[in-house]
Amino acid sequence: MRLSPSFLNLYNLLCLSLSVTAFVHTPQAINFKLLERQTQQKNSYSTPFTIQDSQPNGLAAIFDAAKEFPEQWFTQPVDHFSQDSPTFRQRYWVNNRHYVPGTNAPVIVIDGGETSGEDRLPFLDTGIADILAKATGGIGVVLEHRMIGWNMLTPNLGESIPVANLTTDSLRWLTNEQAVEDSARFMAHVKFEGINEDLTALKTPWIYYGGSYAGARAAHMRVLHPGLVFGAVASSAVTHASVELWEYMDVIRRFANRKCSWHLENLAVTIDSMLSQPGTRKAVKTLFGLSALEHDYDFVTTIEMVFESWQAKNWDPEIGSEEFEEFCKRINHPFDSVEDAVGAIGADTEDVVTLVNSPGFDFTLLNYAAYVRAKILPKCPKDKTIEQCFGTFDDAKYQVTSLDQEWRLWLFQVCTQWGYFFTSPPDHKVPRIVSRLHTLENESKICRQAFPPGEHLTVPPLPNVTAVNALGDFSIAKDRLAIIDGEVDPWRPMTPHSDYYAQDRLDTISEPFKIIPNGVHHWDENGLRDHNQEPPEIQKIHREIVEFVQAWLKDFKRKDWTVSTNMGERSFEVTSWDSG
Ligand SMILES: *[C@@H]1O[C@H](CO)[C@@H](O)[C@H](O)[C@H]1NC(C)=O
Ligand SMILES: *[C@@H]1O[C@H](CO)[C@@H](O)[C@H](O)[C@H]1NC(C)=O
Ligand SMILES: *[C@@H]1O[C@H](CO)[C@@H](O)[C@H](O)[C@H]1NC(C)=O
Repeated sequence: MRLSPSFLNLYNLLCLSLSVTAFVHTPQAINFKLLERQTQQKNSYSTPFTIQDSQPNGLAAIFDAAKEFPEQWFTQPVDHFSQDSPTFRQRYWVNNRHYVPGTNAPVIVIDGGETSGEDRLPFLDTGIADILAKATGGIGVVLEHRMIGWNMLTPNLGESIPVANLTTDSLRWLTNEQAVEDSARFMAHVKFEGINEDLTALKTPWIYYGGSYAGARAAHMRVLHPGLVFGAVASSAVTHASVELWEYMDVIRRFANRKCSWHLENLAVTIDSMLSQPGTRKAVKTLFGLSALEHDYDFVTTIEMVFESWQAKNWDPEIGSEEFEEFCKRINHPFDSVEDAVGAIGADTEDVVTLVNSPGFDFTLLNYAAYVRAKILPKCPKDKTIEQCFGTFDDAKYQVTSLDQEWRLWLFQVCTQWGYFFTSPPDHKVPRIVSRLHTLENESKICRQAFPPGEHLTVPPLPNVTAVNALGDFSIAKDRLAIIDGEVDPWRPMTPHSDYYAQDRLDTISEPFKIIPNGVHHWDENGLRDHNQEPPEIQKIHREIVEFVQAWLKDFKRKDWTVSTNMGERSFEVTSWDSG
């Protein structure tokens, strides 16, 4: 097998970015990512973050898949809305194991979304794309998102590199509108290697599949390009963009182990109150080993990092994180004595002893502190100060714009069109597990730090979410558009299954509307090689997806479809770009 440079990069890349927690965008999460990157560069490989999902077996699955499905490239204009744009090559991978020619079998395309397409290869190999291809005699494809996974780096022969860095100006082509047109052009023009049949979306039914941000894209594609997208499955689809997102942490509060959640609510109030009083402010930070942190905002976001591990849970223990459960076990752990408790955190300074002996002291605070000392503090290398590791107020940290700073990409989309800043609940009567210090100003400051105004583009003070929500928002609907969500997914409040804002719907074959009991983030997309080993609720959702897709395909008549896509066909014929 020819090893392309990007394949050689794969291991490196995966160590940095493999994660089902793809939506990394809070200031502290990015700070952690940068810290992790520095540590890895130094030690070449160190234990990945527990909040991320980098178990060796997950990596092995991606390696295997990458061997069977070599990467391929499709030429796209950098700017679909200009006549003389430079081009770039968009990556994709094809699974044609199950393809039966001449049967109107579908192409199932997985949108890579905001993470490297390589991360999605297991979905092509053993996950939903393979399941659907097998059931229909079709073809599975993973299509990587523009600019993600280095694909802006790859110019066409004889052309210069279209984007040489990730400055504000260079990122101006990273928009929803451009990404939608990439997918549409790909579907209308792609010619699969070794396959003679015309499998473009003008002649063949395409099923567009995505999870999370890419789930919203799947729904948008069905609405914006109904003549190309025959059917779509929108999984954990955040079709509602929102500047603030307090509901994310609220889902965790509501569905976590009840005892743990009750403790975390009390702790959030206790910690805020201690931070607000000069007499206890220093002591509480000392307890957590973070007294050297100047800003209280940095302190609370550092200790709350563990909450982001909720999203990384998966029904498959090989790829999911159990960090949140371990954290809760620790929080709920009882102590036999004060000595026992103080010993647990290994910091019997005067400050701490006074604190622990104060009336009404909440001992779970010691559990929390012990957890942070054991799991978070060691991430800070010896040659750095706590402030250098966990401080987010140093603008320079976020101003490196070289192409390897891939965290800038999704953050840019957050800052321009999507939002989702993790603020605390605006209604003070709503219980919370996070500090009150999560103000919009501090949550969004990273946008100003990372993206100073360019010559061609100024990032707005707050993201403009109007364009995303204009596409249907919570009530987005269309025939042959399926909406699938996880019951306890922290992103569910932003989906058509939101139990905060969306209307309930009927679940029909034409407009499937399904919830995975106890499921988290797009749990329908991954699968095991032996599907019988999957938990019953996962086997069930896979079976249901196959059933409704097969039912949709019965309606596909090539002749009618060509008629219905006439408009699409005409508009795609005038384009001067060749498929690569
Ligand atoms: C970024 O790349 C552009 C060319 O694409 C170049 O003009 C600009 O000077 C670069 N900026 C930085 C900070 O490297
Ligand atoms: C942002 O955080 C800093 C540090 O904790 C704090 O001093 C400042 O008041 C915060 N700003 C807002 C608007 O909350
Ligand atoms: C936000 O975007 C919408 C449509 O994309 C536009 O009409 C509106 O003017 C924008 N708002 C601001 C404040 O820029």
